[in-house]
Amino acid sequence: MKVAIFGLGYVGFTAACCIAQDGHEVVGVDVSSAKVDMINSGKAPISEPGLADMLSDALATGRIRAVTQCDGELEGVDLILVCVGTPSAADGAHDMRYIAEVSRNIGNALSKRETAHPVAVVYRSTMRPGSCDGLIAPLLFGELSDEHKESVQLGYNPEFLREGSAVKDYYAPPKIVIGTLGGEPCKQLEELNKDLDAPRFTVGLREAEITKFVDNSFHALKVAFANEIGRVCVEEGIDVAAVHEIFVSDTKLNISPYYLRPGGAFGGSCLPKDVRALNFIAEDIGAQTHIINTIVRSNEAHKLFLFNRATKDLEPGAKVLLNGLAFKQATDDLRESPNLDLARRLIAAGYDLTVYDENLDPAELMGSNLGYSYSHLPRLGEIISTDVQGKKFDRVIDARGDAGRLAVDCTDVVSIEKL
Ligand SMILES: NC(=O)c1ccc[n+]([C@@H]2O[C@H](COP(=O)([O-])OP(=O)(O)OC[C@H]3O[C@@H](n4cnc5c(N)ncnc54)[C@H](O)[C@@H]3O)[C@@H](O)[C@H]2O)c1
Repeated sequence: MKVAIFGLGYVGFTAACCIAQDGHEVVGVDVSSAKVDMINSGKAPISEPGLADMLSDALATGRIRAVTQCDGELEGVDLILVCVGTPSAADGAHDMRYIAEVSRNIGNALSKRETAHPVAVVYRSTMRPGSCDGLIAPLLFGELSDEHKESVQLGYNPEFLREGSAVKDYYAPPKIVIGTLGGEPCKQLEELNKDLDAPRFTVGLREAEITKFVDNSFHALKVAFANEIGRVCVEEGIDVAAVHEIFVSDTKLNISPYYLRPGGAFGGSCLPKDVRALNFIAEDIGAQTHIINTIVRSNEAHKLFLFNRATKDLEPGAKVLLNGLAFKQATDDLRESPNLDLARRLIAAGYDLTVYDENLDPAELMGSNLGYSYSHLPRLGEIISTDVQGKKFDRVIDARGDAGRLAVDCTDVVSIEKL
């Protein structure tokens, strides 16, 4: 393929060398004439293991060259990769000026091609979800005649390389994410990635655009969380390395997809209680654990979000069935159950609430479970029903993901277990 790469920084230059090594013809475009001159004279503009030799090989075989202007360079191009910077603006948002400028330039240069050869214009820069639709498409397609518009496919393909091991990561990515309009396949990216062994996802543009935000925020969260626990351990004279080893050895519950799914809030007799106690310990010893301190508040915010979602467009007085009351399936434990909070809010908001929970018999509740449930939901005995089959409701709020099997008379089902 003929591939044009806009932006020859860490991402773009690494991609240029790897793609040339794979046998494609690469033209790199960068506004920095210093970078362009360096590349054409065989000097890598960034320091990254392997790239200097790859550049020499690619120059020797004529598979790579760099230019400052793209006019006339896009004739017959199959794939354009955009890797320009998106630095932080003063307010923390991404500064999109380079993206806007390069998109206009590309559209303009594509419109001057003699033939409308099919080309995928694929962005790798990290940017706010909605940028491809809302900013780039109008700029890019706004420059093109109808004939050229037909030949251009817009895509987003985030890059997961880490500086220092960028070439290794390029050839062994953790995943391949391809975003296109409507999740259509992109032939050129399939060709580019055909020898890479990684889970593949072809999704809409926004799902692809948000991927880097999710990943990078999670990596940052992991570092900061580990350091908060580290601070508590240091202050308490606990062996940090031993605690770390124990934590990461648990790939069943800790380093795993478990507890890592958007849906219901957390609750039950352990998580809220122990997070609160760790908050207390950290405050007591001055460990300043800002993330741990906000976990419970974040969970409360989520409960409110779920209530608003569950009652959207529903008039007070409406007949509502809540499927699931205990904090999770297969238990009757109501202590700090988010569903019990939800039931309380529904009653307070004036809905005619019925609760169904297959594991719950209020007559059999005892001890702290009984105390908690009746102090937080005194009307529990009245609103719970063991037989809802065939009954008519205006809305079912499904906290279990299995409301379908209840066979109630209602088509308006809101799931809070799966967002
Ligand atoms: N660095 C990483 O490890 C990494 C990993 C994944 C994603 N990203 C994302 O990829 C993007 C690029 O990151 P980077 O670290 O390679 O940036 P960089 O600053 O190293 O390189 C950007 C390049 O774009 C060039 N440029 C700016 N405007 C241009 C234009 N109109 N036409 C052509 N070239 C232009 C600049 O001269 C520069 O050489 C960013 O959005 C970044 O967040 C970076």
